Amino acid sequence: MPPEKRFDIREIPFGAMGGVYEQDDVEAAMKVVRAVAEAGGDFFPLPEETEFQDALAKHEGAAKAIAVNSCGSALDLCMMALGIAPGDEVITTPLTFVCTATTAIAQGAKVVFADIDPDTMCLDPKNVRRRITKKTKAIIPVHFSGLCADIDGFEAITSQTGIPVIYDAAHAVSAQYKGQPIGGAGKASCYSFQSNKNMTTLGEGGAVTTNDEDFGELIRQKKTFGYVYGKKLRVATIGFNYRMTKPQYAVGLAQLAKIGRVVAKRLQAFQKMHELLEGLDQIIRPAGIEQGHGCHLYVVRLDTDKVSFARDAFLNVLKNEYKVGCGNHYPAVWSWEALANMGYNDQNADCPIAAKACSQVISLPLFPHTTTDDCEYISWAIRQALAELKKEAE
Ligand SMILES: Cc1ncc(COP(=O)(O)O)c(C=O)c1O
Repeated sequence: MPPEKRFDIREIPFGAMGGVYEQDDVEAAMKVVRAVAEAGGDFFPLPEETEFQDALAKHEGAAKAIAVNSCGSALDLCMMALGIAPGDEVITTPLTFVCTATTAIAQGAKVVFADIDPDTMCLDPKNVRRRITKKTKAIIPVHFSGLCADIDGFEAITSQTGIPVIYDAAHAVSAQYKGQPIGGAGKASCYSFQSNKNMTTLGEGGAVTTNDEDFGELIRQKKTFGYVYGKKLRVATIGFNYRMTKPQYAVGLAQLAKIGRVVAKRLQAFQKMHELLEGLDQIIRPAGIEQGHGCHLYVVRLDTDKVSFARDAFLNVLKNEYKVGCGNHYPAVWSWEALANMGYNDQNADCPIAAKACSQVISLPLFPHTTTDDCEYISWAIRQALAELKKEAE
């Protein structure tokens, strides 16, 4: 065996920037700003300026894309367009960002948590089936970390029950399911272009994609005050201002032009990390790296059945001693104060797989700029931290 490589402690931050900003992005934004400054006009994209939305729809394999100002807004619009209301139930995963659940609660619905698949960590359609009642009006699976949920399993539920599925695709720009893009799956998919995502539109942004033209048109109306343009402007539905600005559209196009390269760089880092962690008994590596993974987050799990310390102790050593900036994606949604206060915080027994995963997950800092040497350092730091904590526990 070659001698083990040793490293000096170095800082590997969990970057706030997930995409790649280059000169062309800056130029794209500045061109619009300059044009407005020099010739007047405004930053409001005209209804006919659909180049970014068309390019996004094409990239994600959907008939229509509607750009909005965040994924949270995209989810809210979908809930409103479905008519989710008090008395309804919406099923989702506990292992997600808080807004996947609160989007339904905001409409007065009750969130019903279903368990996840232990391998993919995405919402499990078999478990969802057991939670369906007459009140179930929507299901929101998440393509967790960029790995696609079981779209076939959810399509089967919709065809048997008529319940629409809205995918939270915040992590999944460029992800593929069975070799195909995913933007046309279910009723709609909601994307995020916030700073740390695979692509980003000046820090915030999102989109709804759909193959359902009528649903897409309703989302378009609702994102902009309910407007229907024509000889005479109409307000056809209750709507809001969830619009993206013109410079964001321009940067979105520049980001889409390079997304293949960015995700390929992410995949390279993922594969290196995967290879370096192979055979490490205490670490459960993420599934699906070779299956169209969007490579947004590289989420390992500390196998708490095989160690005598908790994930948080491990996370602290990695962060504080070895300066590896890890993330925790996610605490169970029901454990956040606002939901706990509403009585959601007693579901650990209902969703034991998710509850356990939430206590084991660690997102490692893997980004397009992560080098092989960074991956080797992270792998070394993980081994050091595990050995240290094992010794302490003895
Ligand atoms: C799974 C998931 N859904 C939704 C969102 C919300 O996205 P945005 O910040 O664009 O509203 C996020 C943001 O991190 C997320 O991770």
